[in-house]
Amino acid sequence: MLVDMEIKKLNDIAGAEVLGLDLSRSLCSETRDAILSAFNEYHVLVFRNQTLSKDQQVNFTQQFGELEEHVGRLPDGSRYPIVHTVTNLDPVSGKPTTAPHTHGNYFWHTDKSYHAVPSLMTLLYAVDVPQTGGDTLFCNMQLAYNALTDPEKELLKSLKAIHSWEASRRNTGNIPASEEQKRERPPVSHPLVRTHPVTKNKSLYLGMHVGHIEGMAEEKSKRLLQNLLDKSTVERNIYRHSWQPGDLVIWDNRCLLHKADRNYDMSVHPRVLHRTVVKGTIPV
Ligand SMILES: [Fe+2]
Repeated sequence: MLVDMEIKKLNDIAGAEVLGLDLSRSLCSETRDAILSAFNEYHVLVFRNQTLSKDQQVNFTQQFGELEEHVGRLPDGSRYPIVHTVTNLDPVSGKPTTAPHTHGNYFWHTDKSYHAVPSLMTLLYAVDVPQTGGDTLFCNMQLAYNALTDPEKELLKSLKAIHSWEASRRNTGNIPASEEQKRERPPVSHPLVRTHPVTKNKSLYLGMHVGHIEGMAEEKSKRLLQNLLDKSTVERNIYRHSWQPGDLVIWDNRCLLHKADRNYDMSVHPRVLHRTVVKGTIPV
């Protein structure tokens, strides 16, 4: 039986609050379907005041599809666990640092687009967040696509972008990808304009994991990608989520870019979130 759930739209860009649910408990199929339907409509769902163990977050995540394993490795060489901790805490001192293990999440991206089968849904649960700042920004790439002119849409419709871990590391100024990482994560090609498998709406599919446009001269490709990103990531397309402890936020990687905002003092305030991911389908 459907529990007493309320969905409150937050804005016309992306985002709705889902009220009245305790996500530590299993959902009935009607509630799950209602969440999924809101997810496809609003792209970002916010569940406030949750208390979730890692196992409970895994249980909730699995109700929406196959859990995605992580290919990344922690500084000690071990694999990321299935519930990955997004943190600015130094692994040795346990104190906040301005130079965390990875800072790729501060650049616009769509999760795991360097995989042939990228992420569908990402779930972030706020364990410890700054009182103000450390927001996550979501850019609606369907609105970005819709704002293009017809000749632009015509130009982009047959283009493919090459996404890779190597390009991602380069684009974000991170330590270059190792030979092993390049072997594990070879470049993949995805359409620059992808169609949402449920809503059939088109969106631009790009971000920091993209190296270049297939078959296009390097400089021209670079200019086009930068131009599209600049035009897309404008205020009218962005929903800013201000975190509260206990928030669980889920979002649709098939039609959004996202990034964390450095609008807090990273050297003072902890920002710790638990992340799980649902595997998606091949973009078309
Ligand atoms: Fe991400």
